[in-house]
Amino acid sequence: MNAPVSIEILKQHLIDPEICIRCNTCEETCPIDAITHDDNNYVVKADVCNGCMACVPPCPTGAIDNWRSVLKADAYALDEQYAWDVLPEQGTAAAGVVQAAESGAQPPVDAGDVAAGADGLNVDLVRGSTVPPWSAAKPYVNLYTHNSPTRATVVGNYRLTGAATQSDIHHIVLDFGSMPFPVLEGQSIGILPPGVTADGRAHHARQYSIASPRDGERPGYNNVSLTVKRVTEDHAGGAANGVCSNYLCDLRKGDVVNVIGPFGGTFLMPNHPDSHLLMICTGTGSAPMRAMTEYRRRRRLKGATGKLMLFFGARSQEELPYFGPLTNLPKDFIDTNLAFSRVPGQPKRYVQDAMRQRAVDVAHLLGESGTHIYVCGLKGMEDGVLQALREIACGAGIEWEALWATLKREGRLHLETY
Ligand code: A2P
Repeated sequence: MNAPVSIEILKQHLIDPEICIRCNTCEETCPIDAITHDDNNYVVKADVCNGCMACVPPCPTGAIDNWRSVLKADAYALDEQYAWDVLPEQGTAAAGVVQAAESGAQPPVDAGDVAAGADGLNVDLVRGSTVPPWSAAKPYVNLYTHNSPTRATVVGNYRLTGAATQSDIHHIVLDFGSMPFPVLEGQSIGILPPGVTADGRAHHARQYSIASPRDGERPGYNNVSLTVKRVTEDHAGGAANGVCSNYLCDLRKGDVVNVIGPFGGTFLMPNHPDSHLLMICTGTGSAPMRAMTEYRRRRRLKGATGKLMLFFGARSQEELPYFGPLTNLPKDFIDTNLAFSRVPGQPKRYVQDAMRQRAVDVAHLLGESGTHIYVCGLKGMEDGVLQALREIACGAGIEWEALWATLKREGRLHLETY
């Protein structure tokens, strides 16, 4: 008689290298450091991942949501994953064993069972909503991929920031001509910069939030705008040359770029006209806020009554993208609060300081069920903004933990930081 065969099955978490845009969101989100990367691919450590799903909703492309049933002993090693250009098919041997196991021979070891709730997602690990607002329009995603990008023509490229300032931020308008590229405010696109990396591979796409509303930068045109900061230094302040940002900022009218996307299915605006938008951003994080604000401005004549409140941080007035157009918007349309951090002779001021100063009005919005909150910009602001929201809520007698959970559940708290 044969000895019993061990059939330990692993539902291995993998990342699809074909649609992954290497934005680092999954690696930043993973609470147990199960995700890592090299110059080629983002990969998941099979022996560390517990299937908590925290990384799945924030992924803009869905590349993260891939699973293969494998014999545990045959789990794909990191070196294998680093070398992939495409995901392997589901192996027939493991699939056969899984089928047998699922038909009663032995229950499969399902990573998703370990730490997840009913929907497979451990919501406590996610700080913002994993669902869009109930009235959001349905987005298209991944119409164009690394392997099948579309092309757009540059129809405008303007510097937004003062010529004398360090921040070189551009407003770039791309026209898709007759190719379909339907977008919603809050979505992003990927740009494929030309050329190759030091080891001869094509550059991966870089992701940029769309700064224009769904009906075009120019209403009725098939175009989108982006807000791009030329990267000349890394996070530590050392010299760095942003491959894609420099490419984009140097583009001229008539140049053609390769585009993939659109991406993003949750950081979307509500469409019911009495919904309120509480928008908090720094620097180029203003792109989705501009898109949403402009959409509401265009829609305003058609009966939108909800409030718009904006907190926007930049080093100085000259370094704040869209300063002129923003401050020209009517006060009864948008309540704009600017925070400058590097104005000579003035104390450093961040968006969260401005929020605290407006605590009464922010608390009023927090108390309204139609309020949707959007945070976009520097990673560092996320903690500060959540802390300010907590303090403001508590100061107004609102129980923050309960409100936070409600906001997340109802698709009313959206965080996108980098
Ligand atoms: P700082 O002057 O301290 O860098 P940037 O110009 O680098 O894109 O930044 C946009 C704005 O965000 C700047 O005013 C910057 O201030 C500010 N900022 C930096 N860190 C934080 C943070 N942790 N919370 C809020 N704002 C921040």
